[in-house]
Amino acid sequence: MAIKVGTVFNYLQLPNVSKFPFVINKRQDNIFIQKGLFVYTKSNEGFLIGVIEEIAILNEYFTDALTIKAYNNNNNPNILKGLFPSDDFEFAIAIVKCLGLIKFRSNKLDEIEKVQRMTYPASPGKGVYIVEENILFKFLGFDTEFGLNIGQIKVTNSPAKINMNRLLNKHFAVLSISGGGKSYLTSVLIEELLSRNEDYGTPAIILFDVHGEYTYLKNIPELKNNIKIQDISYFQIGIPKLSVYAFKKYQEQISHVQVRELSKYIKKLKKEKKNKYSLNDLIEQIETESDGNRSTKQALIGWLSELGRLRLFGTQENPILNKIINKQQVTIFNFKNEISIRKKQIIVDYICNRLFNLRRINKIPPFLLIVEEAHQFCPEAAHAKAISKHIIEMIAREGRKFMACLCLISQRPKKLSTTALSQCNSKLVLNIKNPYDLKHLMDSSEAITKEYASMISSLGVGEMIIMGNAVNYPVFVDIRKRNFKSKRDEISLAQFCLNWQNEELK
Ligand SMILES: Nc1ncnc2c1ncn2[C@@H]1O[C@H](COP(=O)(O)OP(=O)(O)OP(=O)(O)O)[C@@H](O)[C@H]1O
Ligand SMILES: [Mg+2]
Repeated sequence: MAIKVGTVFNYLQLPNVSKFPFVINKRQDNIFIQKGLFVYTKSNEGFLIGVIEEIAILNEYFTDALTIKAYNNNNNPNILKGLFPSDDFEFAIAIVKCLGLIKFRSNKLDEIEKVQRMTYPASPGKGVYIVEENILFKFLGFDTEFGLNIGQIKVTNSPAKINMNRLLNKHFAVLSISGGGKSYLTSVLIEELLSRNEDYGTPAIILFDVHGEYTYLKNIPELKNNIKIQDISYFQIGIPKLSVYAFKKYQEQISHVQVRELSKYIKKLKKEKKNKYSLNDLIEQIETESDGNRSTKQALIGWLSELGRLRLFGTQENPILNKIINKQQVTIFNFKNEISIRKKQIIVDYICNRLFNLRRINKIPPFLLIVEEAHQFCPEAAHAKAISKHIIEMIAREGRKFMACLCLISQRPKKLSTTALSQCNSKLVLNIKNPYDLKHLMDSSEAITKEYASMISSLGVGEMIIMGNAVNYPVFVDIRKRNFKSKRDEISLAQFCLNWQNEELK
């Protein structure tokens, strides 16, 4: 049974195609009409669905200054109330922003045939009803059966179950100020992906954990079998896996002439050592080679030795990436103990390149690559050169075709590459205050209008708006609590201060 909440009426210049006002029914048993509620009315075109954008209370009595003066001057306002029943003149109106029209299949009210844009306004006098849950889910594009349960739709409190295919088919970004709850939301998403039934199909997850915030997952008995943690202190890049251009990428000073020379040495070494050689072998090869320009050789040896000092290169990659990436498992690369940004970028670049290539030749399952602090690895500004920028932008542009999904997490959308951000079709936006960041976001996504921007700046912790490919219309969601707690969640600053010498937080 549809619940009627009001009647469409004429107010100011409304209704028009994009908005309609309605007078809210006085008596609403247990129904509290709020901003954000989804309602519908029957227009000439079909069922017109919208969301309450504004509520106003009108009272003719109090529009006239003289009446108010008389009302206030009277010693006993109750007398005046008896004469003028001002309460009866009070009414509430709601302004609804139209979202779309739904056409039902041959008048069956639970089978949506299609959702389309409205081209005609609502009709004054028509009833306004609350959208039932099952229709709302279909209208928003949620997946009630297999969806990822990330929380509740705001106001209606129905479960927000995002369709995994729609979220991961194209890339997505998680954005907010520092402490807005991005990492928290990401762990909710990971919980959901890991707890999906095996028969539904779930991609592999690879996570660059810059601050070691996700390692707690390994201590959770229900999840630990699906979590692998790789401390990048032990990470090794396989030198034979590097092309000559990769050397130039990691050591910018190598000139083009030197690159040409280097490629000759690498070719020889490959033949001799059958793809098993270290950086030292390469340096030795250059040293012992009789022909070639001496100063070029010296320079190359210098650059390669400097690379060697990063202690990042070996004869074989470690871990061997195609052996550790599995579907429905999370591989966390923990960067907590690394401070050199160059080294971090080299590792991210190498892993991304390998993953992308392995995925292209189908040696690893479809994956979701989550990049925390993405502005460090894929910055916008030309002067903030990042070694890993090119490959992240490439995955953003081309990954979809190979079922490689990217999730960029950042507290500074403005500093994040526009190319990468604009390819993030779905956006999970928590609180953002900085006007420059908001503007950048509006520029990179047409779904974010000025109204949404002001709502984004007033979101609290645990609240977000999800927009883009994952849903048909932007929806505000209260993010659910994590099922599994991290030690950090439970400990307060004061407690930490008391214990810090005795107990290191893991
Ligand atoms: N949905 C939520 N429910 C309850 N608490 C939350 C929720 N989201 C975030 N918090 C709390 O807010 C704090 C900050 O969250 P989080 O670490 O996820 O922020 P962040 O956006 O990743 O910050 P940073 O940019 O600094 O990494 C945490 O202590 C977390 O417990
Ligand atoms: Mg974080």
